[in-house]
Amino acid sequence: MNFPQYRPRRLRRTETLRRMVREVRLGISDLILPIFVTHGKGVKRPISSMPGHYQLSTDLIEEEAKKIRDLAIPAVILFGIPETKDETGKSALDSNGPVQRAVRTIKEKVPGLVVITDVCMCEYTSHGHCGIIKEGDVENDATLELLAREALSHAEAGADMVAPSDMMDGRVEAIRTLLDSEGYSHIPIMSYAAKYASAFYGPFREAAESTPEFGDRRSYQMDPANAEEALREVALDIEEGADIVMVKPALPYLDIIRRVKDGFGYPVAAYNVSGEYSMVKAAAEKGWIDGDRVMMEMLVAMKRAGADMIVTYFAREAAALLAK
Ligand code: PBG
Repeated sequence: MNFPQYRPRRLRRTETLRRMVREVRLGISDLILPIFVTHGKGVKRPISSMPGHYQLSTDLIEEEAKKIRDLAIPAVILFGIPETKDETGKSALDSNGPVQRAVRTIKEKVPGLVVITDVCMCEYTSHGHCGIIKEGDVENDATLELLAREALSHAEAGADMVAPSDMMDGRVEAIRTLLDSEGYSHIPIMSYAAKYASAFYGPFREAAESTPEFGDRRSYQMDPANAEEALREVALDIEEGADIVMVKPALPYLDIIRRVKDGFGYPVAAYNVSGEYSMVKAAAEKGWIDGDRVMMEMLVAMKRAGADMIVTYFAREAAALLAK
Protein backbone atom coordinates (compact mmCIF):
# COMPACT_ATOMS: atom_id res chain seq x y z
CA MET A 1 0.00 0.00 0.00
CA ASN A 2 1.19 3.49 -0.76
CA PHE A 3 0.36 7.02 0.19
CA PRO A 4 -2.35 8.28 0.49
CA GLN A 5 -3.84 4.88 1.50
CA TYR A 6 -0.92 4.12 3.80
CA ARG A 7 -0.12 6.84 6.30
CA PRO A 8 2.47 5.73 8.88
CA ARG A 9 1.66 8.76 11.02
CA ARG A 10 -1.72 7.18 11.96
CA LEU A 11 0.01 4.97 14.48
CA ARG A 12 2.13 7.75 15.95
CA ARG A 13 -0.70 9.98 17.08
CA THR A 14 -0.66 9.29 20.79
CA GLU A 15 1.79 7.88 23.28
CA THR A 16 -0.51 4.91 23.90
CA LEU A 17 -0.61 4.05 20.21
CA ARG A 18 3.13 4.45 19.96
CA ARG A 19 3.57 2.17 22.93
CA MET A 20 1.36 -0.49 21.31
CA VAL A 21 3.39 -0.69 18.11
CA ARG A 22 6.82 -0.37 19.73
CA GLU A 23 9.06 -3.10 18.35
CA VAL A 24 11.72 -3.38 21.01
CA ARG A 25 11.65 -2.60 24.67
CA LEU A 26 14.45 -1.77 27.00
CA GLY A 27 13.97 -3.31 30.42
CA ILE A 28 15.86 -3.12 33.69
CA SER A 29 16.68 -6.83 33.26
CA ASP A 30 18.78 -5.94 30.21
CA LEU A 31 21.28 -3.97 32.24
CA ILE A 32 24.66 -4.94 33.71
CA LEU A 33 26.49 -2.37 35.83
CA PRO A 34 30.33 -2.19 35.85
CA ILE A 35 31.95 -1.53 39.22
CA PHE A 36 35.58 -0.73 40.02
CA VAL A 37 36.77 -2.30 43.23
CA THR A 38 39.99 -1.34 44.92
CA HIS A 39 42.12 -2.22 47.95
CA GLY A 40 42.13 -0.25 51.20
CA LYS A 41 39.32 0.79 53.52
CA GLY A 42 36.66 3.46 53.26
CA VAL A 43 37.79 4.41 49.75
CA LYS A 44 35.22 6.00 47.45
CA ARG A 45 37.39 7.79 44.92
CA PRO A 46 35.50 9.60 42.15
CA ILE A 47 36.60 8.88 38.58
CA SER A 48 36.85 12.35 37.13
CA SER A 49 36.12 11.40 33.52
CA MET A 50 33.12 9.26 34.53
CA PRO A 51 30.79 11.33 36.71
CA GLY A 52 28.79 9.10 39.07
CA HIS A 53 31.41 6.33 39.10
CA TYR A 54 33.99 5.54 41.76
CA GLN A 55 36.80 3.27 42.74
CA LEU A 56 35.28 1.56 45.76
CA SER A 57 37.07 -0.39 48.44
CA THR A 58 35.62 -3.78 49.20
CA ASP A 59 34.34 -2.78 52.67
CA LEU A 60 31.88 -0.44 50.94
CA ILE A 61 30.68 -2.99 48.43
CA GLU A 62 27.88 -4.46 50.54
CA GLU A 63 26.05 -1.14 50.77
CA GLU A 64 26.58 -0.55 47.05
CA ALA A 65 25.33 -4.02 46.12
CA LYS A 66 22.15 -3.47 48.14
CA LYS A 67 21.42 -0.23 46.30
CA ILE A 68 21.91 -1.98 42.99
CA ARG A 69 19.61 -4.81 44.03
CA ASP A 70 16.99 -2.28 45.15
CA LEU A 71 17.04 -0.78 41.64
CA ALA A 72 16.30 -4.32 40.34
CA ILE A 73 19.47 -4.34 38.23
CA PRO A 74 20.17 -8.06 37.75
CA ALA A 75 23.95 -8.09 37.44
CA VAL A 76 27.24 -6.32 37.99
CA ILE A 77 30.61 -6.82 36.32
CA LEU A 78 33.62 -6.27 38.53
CA PHE A 79 36.98 -4.72 37.63
CA GLY A 80 39.83 -4.77 40.14
CA ILE A 81 42.50 -2.24 41.02
CA PRO A 82 45.09 -4.24 42.96
CA GLU A 83 47.56 -2.96 45.53
CA THR A 84 50.58 -4.27 43.63
CA LYS A 85 51.39 -4.76 39.97
CA ASP A 86 54.27 -6.63 38.38
CA GLU A 87 55.48 -7.82 34.97
CA THR A 88 53.29 -10.94 34.96
CA GLY A 89 50.28 -9.61 36.84
CA LYS A 90 50.57 -12.08 39.72
CA SER A 91 48.12 -10.12 41.88
CA ALA A 92 45.30 -11.19 39.52
CA LEU A 93 45.46 -14.63 41.15
CA ASP A 94 45.40 -13.42 44.76
CA SER A 95 42.43 -14.97 46.55
CA ASN A 96 42.39 -11.82 48.69
CA GLY A 97 42.51 -9.41 45.77
CA PRO A 98 39.81 -6.74 45.48
CA VAL A 99 37.73 -8.66 42.94
CA GLN A 100 37.86 -11.93 44.88
CA ARG A 101 36.94 -10.14 48.13
CA ALA A 102 34.13 -8.18 46.50
CA VAL A 103 32.70 -11.35 44.95
CA ARG A 104 32.68 -13.11 48.32
CA THR A 105 31.01 -10.17 50.05
CA ILE A 106 28.31 -9.71 47.43
CA LYS A 107 27.52 -13.42 47.22
CA GLU A 108 27.26 -13.57 50.99
CA LYS A 109 25.25 -10.39 51.60
CA VAL A 110 23.26 -9.95 48.38
CA PRO A 111 23.18 -13.45 46.92
CA GLY A 112 20.53 -12.68 44.30
CA LEU A 113 22.73 -10.22 42.45
CA VAL A 114 24.54 -11.93 39.56
CA VAL A 115 28.27 -11.27 39.82
CA ILE A 116 30.30 -11.35 36.62
CA THR A 117 34.05 -10.80 36.75
CA ASP A 118 36.19 -9.26 34.05
CA VAL A 119 39.10 -11.58 33.37
CA CYS A 120 42.14 -9.75 32.03
CA MET A 121 45.73 -9.00 33.00
CA CYS A 122 45.94 -5.29 32.14
CA GLU A 123 44.83 -4.08 35.56
CA TYR A 124 47.46 -6.26 37.24
CA THR A 125 50.54 -5.85 35.05
CA SER A 126 53.04 -3.04 35.65
CA HIS A 127 53.17 -2.32 31.89
CA GLY A 128 49.36 -2.26 31.53
CA HIS A 129 49.16 -4.80 28.71
CA CYS A 130 46.67 -7.66 28.75
CA GLY A 131 49.24 -10.45 29.11
CA ILE A 132 52.88 -11.41 29.44
CA ILE A 133 55.30 -9.32 27.37
CA LYS A 134 58.01 -10.87 25.23
CA GLU A 135 60.07 -8.76 22.85
CA GLY A 136 57.70 -5.83 23.06
CA ASP A 137 54.48 -7.70 22.36
CA VAL A 138 52.00 -9.75 24.36
CA GLU A 139 52.86 -13.43 24.19
CA ASN A 140 49.63 -15.25 23.43
CA ASP A 141 50.07 -18.83 24.57
CA ALA A 142 51.96 -18.06 27.78
CA THR A 143 49.17 -15.68 28.78
CA LEU A 144 46.44 -18.33 28.44
CA GLU A 145 47.41 -20.18 31.58
CA LEU A 146 47.35 -16.99 33.64
CA LEU A 147 43.92 -16.03 32.33
CA ALA A 148 42.55 -19.48 33.09
CA ARG A 149 43.94 -19.34 36.62
CA GLU A 150 42.52 -15.86 37.12
CA ALA A 151 39.09 -17.07 35.99
CA LEU A 152 39.37 -20.05 38.33
CA SER A 153 40.23 -17.81 41.25
CA HIS A 154 37.11 -15.73 40.54
CA ALA A 155 34.98 -18.87 40.34
CA GLU A 156 36.45 -20.12 43.62
CA ALA A 157 35.49 -16.81 45.24
CA GLY A 158 31.90 -17.43 44.06
CA ALA A 159 31.59 -15.54 40.76
CA ASP A 160 28.46 -16.48 38.81
CA MET A 161 30.06 -15.86 35.42
CA VAL A 162 33.49 -14.96 34.05
CA ALA A 163 34.13 -12.53 31.20
CA PRO A 164 37.53 -12.67 29.47
CA SER A 165 38.33 -9.30 27.87
CA ASP A 166 41.96 -9.83 26.84
CA MET A 167 41.50 -10.93 23.19
CA MET A 168 44.16 -13.65 23.31
CA ASP A 169 43.51 -16.46 20.83
CA GLY A 170 42.31 -19.63 22.54
CA ARG A 171 41.49 -18.10 25.91
CA VAL A 172 37.88 -19.29 26.03
CA GLU A 173 38.97 -22.87 25.57
CA ALA A 174 41.76 -22.51 28.15
CA ILE A 175 39.33 -21.07 30.70
CA ARG A 176 36.57 -23.61 29.94
CA THR A 177 38.99 -26.53 30.29
CA LEU A 178 40.39 -25.41 33.63
CA LEU A 179 36.98 -24.47 35.08
CA ASP A 180 35.56 -27.86 34.04
CA SER A 181 38.45 -29.81 35.48
CA GLU A 182 38.15 -27.97 38.81
CA GLY A 183 34.42 -28.54 39.27
CA TYR A 184 33.09 -25.31 37.77
CA SER A 185 31.46 -26.66 34.64
CA HIS A 186 28.27 -24.79 35.64
CA ILE A 187 29.91 -21.36 35.43
CA PRO A 188 29.16 -19.63 32.12
CA ILE A 189 31.67 -17.66 30.07
CA MET A 190 30.69 -14.31 28.60
CA SER A 191 33.45 -13.69 26.10
CA TYR A 192 34.42 -10.29 24.83
CA ALA A 193 34.38 -11.93 21.39
CA ALA A 194 34.53 -8.94 19.06
CA LYS A 195 36.49 -6.36 20.98
CA TYR A 196 37.89 -3.50 18.96
CA ALA A 197 41.04 -1.46 19.60
CA SER A 198 39.02 1.62 20.47
CA ALA A 199 39.70 5.17 21.56
CA PHE A 200 36.38 4.96 23.42
CA TYR A 201 38.13 3.11 26.27
CA GLY A 202 39.98 6.25 27.38
CA PRO A 203 38.02 7.04 30.57
CA PHE A 204 38.00 3.36 31.63
CA ARG A 205 41.78 3.30 31.64
CA GLU A 206 41.80 6.16 34.11
CA ALA A 207 39.22 4.30 36.20
CA ALA A 208 41.05 0.97 36.15
CA GLU A 209 44.56 2.45 36.05
CA SER A 210 45.31 0.22 33.09
CA THR A 211 46.75 2.48 30.38
CA PRO A 212 49.53 0.63 28.53
CA GLU A 213 52.95 2.09 29.35
CA PHE A 214 54.20 1.61 25.83
CA GLY A 215 52.53 0.99 22.50
CA ASP A 216 48.84 0.20 22.19
CA ARG A 217 46.55 -2.83 22.06
CA ARG A 218 46.30 -3.12 18.29
CA SER A 219 48.23 -6.38 18.10
CA TYR A 220 45.44 -8.13 20.04
CA GLN A 221 42.26 -6.05 19.86
CA MET A 222 40.47 -5.75 16.52
CA ASP A 223 40.82 -3.20 13.74
CA PRO A 224 37.69 -0.98 13.67
CA ALA A 225 37.38 -1.45 9.91
CA ASN A 226 36.73 -5.20 10.11
CA ALA A 227 33.35 -6.91 10.27
CA GLU A 228 33.97 -10.32 8.68
CA GLU A 229 36.79 -10.84 11.13
CA ALA A 230 34.42 -10.09 14.02
CA LEU A 231 32.19 -12.94 12.85
CA ARG A 232 35.19 -15.28 12.74
CA GLU A 233 36.16 -14.21 16.27
CA VAL A 234 32.63 -14.92 17.49
CA ALA A 235 32.54 -18.31 15.72
CA LEU A 236 35.83 -19.28 17.36
CA ASP A 237 34.69 -18.28 20.83
CA ILE A 238 31.43 -20.20 20.45
CA GLU A 239 33.35 -23.27 19.30
CA GLU A 240 35.62 -22.93 22.31
CA GLY A 241 32.66 -22.82 24.68
CA ALA A 242 31.47 -19.23 25.09
CA ASP A 243 27.90 -19.02 26.43
CA ILE A 244 27.36 -15.33 25.73
CA VAL A 245 29.26 -13.34 23.11
CA MET A 246 29.98 -9.68 23.45
CA VAL A 247 30.52 -6.87 20.97
CA LYS A 248 32.51 -3.91 22.27
CA PRO A 249 32.20 -0.92 22.02
CA ALA A 250 28.48 -0.81 21.24
CA LEU A 251 27.41 2.44 19.61
CA PRO A 252 29.93 2.58 16.73
CA TYR A 253 29.49 -1.17 16.14
CA LEU A 254 25.71 -1.65 15.98
CA ASP A 255 26.15 -3.33 12.59
CA ILE A 256 28.36 -5.95 14.20
CA ILE A 257 25.81 -6.58 16.96
CA ARG A 258 23.13 -7.19 14.34
CA ARG A 259 25.31 -9.51 12.27
CA VAL A 260 26.36 -11.51 15.31
CA LYS A 261 22.76 -11.86 16.48
CA ASP A 262 21.54 -12.95 13.03
CA GLY A 263 24.51 -15.15 12.30
CA PHE A 264 24.69 -17.20 15.49
CA GLY A 265 21.48 -16.91 17.48
CA TYR A 266 23.50 -16.84 20.69
CA PRO A 267 22.88 -14.47 23.57
CA VAL A 268 24.64 -11.24 22.62
CA ALA A 269 25.95 -8.65 25.04
CA ALA A 270 26.78 -5.11 23.98
CA TYR A 271 29.35 -3.15 25.97
CA ASN A 272 28.33 0.51 26.08
CA VAL A 273 31.87 1.60 26.99
CA SER A 274 33.30 4.38 29.10
CA GLY A 275 33.86 6.88 26.27
CA GLU A 276 30.28 6.47 25.10
CA TYR A 277 29.16 7.29 28.64
CA SER A 278 31.53 10.18 29.23
CA MET A 279 30.76 12.02 26.04
CA VAL A 280 27.05 12.02 26.86
CA LYS A 281 27.79 13.25 30.37
CA ALA A 282 30.09 16.00 29.13
CA ALA A 283 27.69 17.27 26.47
CA ALA A 284 24.77 17.17 28.90
CA GLU A 285 26.78 19.08 31.48
CA LYS A 286 27.37 21.80 28.91
CA GLY A 287 23.65 21.89 28.21
CA TRP A 288 24.19 20.81 24.60
CA ILE A 289 22.03 17.68 24.74
CA ASP A 290 19.37 16.18 27.00
CA GLY A 291 21.48 13.53 28.74
CA ASP A 292 18.61 11.28 29.84
CA ARG A 293 16.99 11.19 26.43
CA VAL A 294 20.27 10.54 24.64
CA MET A 295 21.04 7.76 27.12
CA MET A 296 17.69 6.02 26.53
CA GLU A 297 17.97 6.42 22.76
CA MET A 298 21.44 4.87 22.76
CA LEU A 299 20.39 1.94 24.92
CA VAL A 300 17.26 1.17 22.92
CA ALA A 301 19.32 1.35 19.71
CA MET A 302 21.59 -1.37 21.09
CA LYS A 303 18.58 -3.55 21.79
CA ARG A 304 17.16 -2.85 18.35
CA ALA A 305 20.50 -3.87 16.84
CA GLY A 306 20.10 -7.25 18.52
CA ALA A 307 21.71 -7.03 21.95
CA ASP A 308 20.10 -9.21 24.61
CA MET A 309 21.93 -7.43 27.41
CA ILE A 310 23.92 -4.24 27.80
CA VAL A 311 26.90 -3.60 30.01
CA THR A 312 26.52 0.09 30.77
CA TYR A 313 27.67 2.78 33.18
CA PHE A 314 24.16 4.20 32.73
CA ALA A 315 22.58 1.16 34.41
CA ARG A 316 21.62 3.00 37.61
CA GLU A 317 20.08 6.03 35.90
CA ALA A 318 18.37 3.97 33.21
CA ALA A 319 16.92 1.59 35.81
CA ALA A 320 15.58 4.52 37.83
CA LEU A 321 13.89 5.98 34.75
CA LEU A 322 12.53 2.62 33.63
CA ALA A 323 10.99 2.01 37.05
CA LYS A 324 8.83 5.14 36.77
C1 PBG B 1 40.27 -4.74 29.98
C2 PBG B 1 39.07 -3.99 29.64
C3 PBG B 1 38.95 -2.72 29.04
C4 PBG B 1 37.60 -2.41 29.03
C5 PBG B 1 36.93 -3.49 29.60
N1 PBG B 1 37.85 -4.46 29.94
C6 PBG B 1 39.97 -1.76 28.60
C7 PBG B 1 40.86 -2.04 27.50
O1 PBG B 1 40.78 -3.03 26.78
O2 PBG B 1 41.76 -1.20 27.37
C8 PBG B 1 37.02 -1.13 28.53
C9 PBG B 1 35.72 -0.75 29.10
C10 PBG B 1 35.30 0.65 28.90
O3 PBG B 1 35.92 1.48 28.20
O4 PBG B 1 34.25 0.96 29.47
N2 PBG B 1 41.01 -5.25 28.94
